[in-house]
Amino acid sequence: QHFSSSIHVASPTSNATSESADIDWDNLGFGFMPTDYMYVMKCSQGENFSEGQLLRFGNIELNPSAGILNYGQGLFEGLKAYRKHDRNILLFRPEENAMRLRMGAERMCMPSPTVEQFVEAVRETVLANEKWIPPPGKGSMYIRPLLMGSGAVLGLAPAPEYTFLIYVSPVGNYFKEGLAPINLVVETEMHRATPGGTGGVKTIGNYAAEGAFCVRRSKKWLLIHCESAEYGDSCSSFRSVRIAEISLGPSARLWLVLKAQSAAKAKGYSDVLYLDSVHKRFLEEVSSCNVFVVKGNVISTPAIKGTILPGITRKSIIDVARSQGFQVEERMVPVEELLDADEVFCTGTAVVISPVGSITYIGKRVSYGSSGVGLVSQQLYSALTRLQMGLTEDTMDWILE
Ligand code: COI
Repeated sequence: QHFSSSIHVASPTSNATSESADIDWDNLGFGFMPTDYMYVMKCSQGENFSEGQLLRFGNIELNPSAGILNYGQGLFEGLKAYRKHDRNILLFRPEENAMRLRMGAERMCMPSPTVEQFVEAVRETVLANEKWIPPPGKGSMYIRPLLMGSGAVLGLAPAPEYTFLIYVSPVGNYFKEGLAPINLVVETEMHRATPGGTGGVKTIGNYAAEGAFCVRRSKKWLLIHCESAEYGDSCSSFRSVRIAEISLGPSARLWLVLKAQSAAKAKGYSDVLYLDSVHKRFLEEVSSCNVFVVKGNVISTPAIKGTILPGITRKSIIDVARSQGFQVEERMVPVEELLDADEVFCTGTAVVISPVGSITYIGKRVSYGSSGVGLVSQQLYSALTRLQMGLTEDTMDWILE
């Protein structure tokens, strides 16, 4: 599949250039970095999205009564673009993200762009920000589409207006460990999702179970302002604003209390592995990625039954593993299987494949692979990333070039 570089930049005119941005490509982490353009498309409730445009990247205006701010009517997606040695740009399975967004929008009573509109908008945004794509082997461009109820509501109802927005940022490894194995702790008290809920769709609320950033105090609105706070810091500086439009960066870090994850990080773990909320015994997923357990030639992963996010990397790894002769089982995986596993690894767009070095469950720590990354994790990581970076033939037809 090919995408052309003839982009239509509605406003303002593009200064897109194939030159590389002047940044330190060798030290990219997974942090937000502003780029040049963002894509914005709006529509009213009951209508379809039609015409979008590229705008200079910057803050967006939202009514304080917007559906997304008050009732969490919002979804996001995540996908990546890679730069090839021949300077072409690759997108990995963008239509899968488009379909997942449409599925989530249906659940959240929102209109959504068509698959074609989504993919075209992604292409335009990537090309307009081309100079921010890291050179081959230095990372990727993370693409973050957002779909939100941007119209004002007071009573609980679907918002009267919706905004589809895409911004991008160059990224490196998600975990500070890089590709070194991460250390997880099994969370036994808090649960990420519950049957019948929205755990299986990519709603903004799934990623922070509690929180607030705009509160009413002594007849004034207070905007919690902690843009510079680092993860785990306390948010102490408040700035009051009048009831009016609140100006937020599209990637503003809303100060949300990510309780289980912060508690785990404070104890030195990389992240949390959640159990199901009914039996409190079966693996679900890690805060930001799916989980796989390897035993011999069998690779098991929790089945998608509404409480687990249907990851596109998860789905791709299942296909890659099967094509390499592994037996992949999608089923309920009891936590006890961790004790006996040969390897454990996580998958996600941001994470790609992250090998797990140890898991702690009710005070008992199990370690995997005394000498670094397990062979199966390494093999699958290499097969997937070579495909994503255009280094092997795309026999699966997953790449849009
Ligand atoms: C992704 O992997 O793309 C996600 O959306 C997870 C997010 C927490 C970074």
